[in-house]
Amino acid sequence: MVLAGFVGVLLIIQFVPYGRDHTDPPVIAEPAWDSPQTRAPFFRACADCHSNETTWPWYSTIALASWLITRDVMEGRAKFNVSNWGRPDNEGDMPRKPFRTAKRRPGSPCRSTPKPVRHPPSGSS
Ligand code: HEC
Repeated sequence: MVLAGFVGVLLIIQFVPYGRDHTDPPVIAEPAWDSPQTRAPFFRACADCHSNETTWPWYSTIALASWLITRDVMEGRAKFNVSNWGRPDNEGDMPRKPFRTAKRRPGSPCRSTPKPVRHPPSGSS
């Protein structure tokens, strides 16, 4: 009974469209790898979530795995993507705009952060 319900739920969630589209965006630019020996381990260990050349495993088409994997890949690409090299997010242009906006929101704890000390400190001549 319980098992049948569980299998039923598993079947129903397969109809949720999220996580099934695995068309990867195009590769725009890659970093200037210093050698193929640098690129290869990165592609082996990291590129599935940090490039547009994801190797989607077979189970990535089956919910729930598909939802979790797709979320990891989307978040990983958004943060750091070697297929979009040259994009400001990839080159340490922090903080990002949403973060800066959040910081300015009234009541945000970040607003009470003291101002950075001026260099050279004034009045110490
Ligand atoms: C299963 C997917 C996955 C794999 C594989 C993966 N990452 Fe990530 N990575 C993520 C996600 C998701 C985030 C964003 C969430 C976070 O910051 O915790 C992230 C964040 C990062 C960030 C932070 C970027 C920023 O701007 O904050 C770096 C750097 C990074 N990963 C490097 C790597 C490296 C190097 C490897 C290989 C050794 C790797 N990742 C493998 C999913 C992955």
